Formats: sequence, C-alpha cells, structure tokens
Amino acid sequence: MDFHIPYLDIKALQRRFSQRDSEALQELQDLGIYIGGEPVTRFEMDYAQYCGTQFCIGTGNGLDALTIILRAEKQLGRLPENARILVPAHTYIATFLSITEAGMHPIPVDVHHLLITKDVVEKHLENVDAIVAVDIYGKLVDDEVYAFAKANHKPIYTDAAQSHGAKTSNGDRSGSRGMASAFSFYPTKNLGALGDAGAITTNDEELAVMARRMANYGRTSRFVNDMKGVNSRLDPLQASFLNNRLLFLDNDNKKRKKIAQVYMEQIENPKVKLPPADFLESNSIHVFPIFLEERDQFVAYLEDRGIQTNRHYAIPPHQQLAFKEFNDMSFPQTEYLHDSEVSLPCHPLLEDHEVQEIVIAINEYS
Ligand SMILES: Cc1ncc(COP(=O)(O)O)c(C=O)c1O
Repeated sequence: MDFHIPYLDIKALQRRFSQRDSEALQELQDLGIYIGGEPVTRFEMDYAQYCGTQFCIGTGNGLDALTIILRAEKQLGRLPENARILVPAHTYIATFLSITEAGMHPIPVDVHHLLITKDVVEKHLENVDAIVAVDIYGKLVDDEVYAFAKANHKPIYTDAAQSHGAKTSNGDRSGSRGMASAFSFYPTKNLGALGDAGAITTNDEELAVMARRMANYGRTSRFVNDMKGVNSRLDPLQASFLNNRLLFLDNDNKKRKKIAQVYMEQIENPKVKLPPADFLESNSIHVFPIFLEERDQFVAYLEDRGIQTNRHYAIPPHQQLAFKEFNDMSFPQTEYLHDSEVSLPCHPLLEDHEVQEIVIAINEYS
C-alpha cells in the first residue's frame, strides 16, 4: 500500500548521514580496522559522557546488553543462580528473553498506565531478587521506583532500549539510573545504527569490567578464559555510524516532543484515548501511542487516507507460546494496552502540515 505519510521514513532519516557514513567506511578500510578500535572506544567514551555515567560497553545488540548485565551480576555473586527478576508485563519480548537467557526467572507484573510503579514493586519485593525497569515508548520509569529499590537493597537495572536521551526533572539522563542500563541501537530507535548494535552503561566499575569480559568470550587476557562468556561486540562500522548520529540526538528528540505536544493538545475524539497527561515528561518519545477499542477499523480508516501507523505491540510476552508458563496469568492493564494501542507517526522529519493532517483525520474519525 502506498502511504503519503509513512509511519517512519527510515531511509530518509538515515540518509541524512550518508556522506559522513561513506567517509567512515572508507576510513576503516584505509586503517584496516574490522573489530574494535578507535571508533568503538570513541563511541563508548562519548555515550558514557552523554548519559552521565563513568562506563559504557558496546555490545552486538540490545538483547545481549541486558543479558550480559544479568550474567555479569551473577558472575560477581550479586545475583543468585535462578534469580527471580521482576519485569513489567508491558514490554517487548526481548526483556523477558534476556532474563531467561541469563538462566533466571522473569516475575511479570502489571503496569499502572504504562510503567511499573513503586506500589507494584513494593507488593512483590519479598518475592524477587532484582528488578528490570523498562522505559517503554521512551518514558522513564519514575525516580521513586529507583529510590525505593535502593532503600530496600534490591538491585535495579534498566531496559533503556527505547529511551535514548530522555531526562528526568532532576536532569538525570536515561542510562544513568540504577545499577546498569541496556540500550539498543536497532536502526529505528531514536539513536539507531545501520544494523544491530547495543550498549551497557553503568557507574559500577566492577560490573563494567565483568560485562566487558563477559561480552568477549569471558576472557581475562588473550589466552586465559576462566568463565564462560559470549561474543557480542559493537561493530566498529556501526560505532562510526553512531558517532555520526549522537550529535543529532537531542535535536531529534526535541522535534519528536514538539509533534507529541501537538497530538496531546489537538487530538479530540471521544473514541480515542490519549496517553497519560504526564506522558511528555521525562520522555524521548520513541513511540507516540493512542488507544482505541476498534483498532483495526481505525487503522484501516487512516490507511485509506494515506496515513500509516504501527503497533507497540499486539501480543504481550506472557501470552506468547514462547512463554507458555505465563499463558494462564492475567495482567489487565497490559492486555488492554496490547489490544488497543496504535502508534502514530512521530519522527524528526515529519512536517507540520503532515502532523496537522494526521490530527484532522483522527478528529474526523467517527
Ligand atoms: C524494550 C526493548 N528491549 C529490548 C530490545 C532489544 O534490542 P535489540 O533488538 O537491539 O536486541 C528492544 C528493541 O527491539 C526493545 O524495544
């Protein structure tokens, strides 16, 4: 189908960096850098500085980043074998998979509006060894949750795969809260590479050292391996592409927020539910979600008007066959979100008149 307003014009977004990207490829070929090297080190230093953390460790993708954090914590003796990890039911399946990949057990809990809250964590605290908070759609989990976990000596990690650059009201950046954070640089993310890429950020030196070893076959030095690790490296070409894009992240996020503001202020249709009133706060606006009972009909209506939408998501992890053990569980808010969510176009190249066209189309829907 031909859309005159696509959900995300990924080619146009990435094409902004074509010239610089070509130069980066040429440079790596000239220098003979294929694995690691200066572009990776530079990205790790710059991204750590950007997030306000001491350390950043590049990985092959976001799933690996979160898995490696958990495996490294187990290796350090901070999490037990078979640890029970509290995780929001409303997330992408990768969050659950990182926990099982690390040989641990997800303990899914429902969200309030979109995210886990202090109350939910408090209710399950005695039953879990640690918490993975997820900044879904780019919205940061409340500081209160981190403070509560800290006060109760429960490690808390962040799946920050969607929240690059988001800031709390105190000015703390995504990636700087909790014991460690995992990022994905999947091409469609706010900071996206041209292939798979990911990173871990942390202020904990022991964890940083262990995570780096874990991501490099578990090796201590060139010929010495005293634990089982994995191979999950940030590719130098992807690191170069990320270096080109990091400088533009803040500006891109500002543009996303401006569009989201228009949606929040101007969408008025009794059939359409907007995200919670505080949605714009502490948010990178990776996704702008609206919610409708008659989703399929609405999506078809927008498609007829040439407007493409997306879904985040349709089937929550606990209802997937991959997690049969949770299929009988019920998380009403999560299920409502997955049944009713429609993601609207919201990216830095969207023109004002396109945003207006989307608003008008939604307001005219009956
Ligand atoms: C919330 C969340 N967690 C984890 C991931 C996994 O990242 P990746 O695809 O880079 O492995 C993603 C991205 O797809 C995500 O959205």
